Amino acid sequence: MSARRVHVIGIGAGDPQHLTMQAVAAMQEVDVFLVADKGGAARDLLAAREALCRTHLEEGSYRVVAVVDPERGADAPRRGAAYTRGVEDWHDARARAWREQLATLPEGAVAGFLVWGDPAFYDSTLRVLHHVAQTLPLDLRVTPGITAFQALAAAHGTVLHGIGEPVHVTTGRRLLQEWTPDLGPTVVMLDGHLTCRELVDRAPDLSLHWGACLGLPQQELRAGRLAEVVDEVAAVRAALREQHGWVMDVYALGAGPVD
Ligand SMILES: C[S@@+](CC[C@H](N)C(=O)[O-])C[C@H]1O[C@@H](n2cnc3c(N)ncnc32)[C@H](O)[C@@H]1O
Repeated sequence: MSARRVHVIGIGAGDPQHLTMQAVAAMQEVDVFLVADKGGAARDLLAAREALCRTHLEEGSYRVVAVVDPERGADAPRRGAAYTRGVEDWHDARARAWREQLATLPEGAVAGFLVWGDPAFYDSTLRVLHHVAQTLPLDLRVTPGITAFQALAAAHGTVLHGIGEPVHVTTGRRLLQEWTPDLGPTVVMLDGHLTCRELVDRAPDLSLHWGACLGLPQQELRAGRLAEVVDEVAAVRAALREQHGWVMDVYALGAGPVD
């Protein structure tokens, strides 16, 4: 059996103009886009992907197949190994569903996955496809995309780190256990709780560059000393969620001066 070609295409973090020419070229090779069928925010993100296809691809040249996403247990109460195991189980179930779809594609058909941001950051698509590839030969081609924290830095017109220095990228779940004054600039993704609020007493002067729904019409940006700006950020965040039913945000701590 020859390996099935699968394009994993980073589409950027929200602005349709994030799509690179390389991404458009990869999309044009795809016959069938597989998309996870979920509710909530994912519905709007799915609509954004469909709009990209309509803009850049000829009608009738591709199909979109929704693959029902397996139920994912509640992550919040899980810690450490239990959390990782929960995610791995979910990846296994997803791999089974995707394998089933990929296996039924006609010989020579090219499959595609449109990944929000960049496939290398906090996205399970490649991990799941590596899993599928253990039993179904896949020829994986990855196209990088603009990740949320690049969009954040650009929107604020800032550099994330000092000259030749590192930047730490983490999640809201890990922030409190990882952050120390020596950690340096820290980018936080996947933080449903604006965890940096809990650092106000320890580091009130830390700079915060925050962005929500970057690249989308409802984009909001705030920057300032953590202690001064975090309550406003929390209020803006809550208002976005109220208005749109979901909010995605990303922020950088200690990434250069704020006015
Ligand atoms: C599942 S991760 C996907 C990350 C994606 N692969 C990337 O490279 O940006 C989702 C997280 O990315 C961040 N994110 C993605 N798009 C965003 C946007 N348009 N505005 C703000 N944050 C965004 C948020 O931190 C969100 O919780």
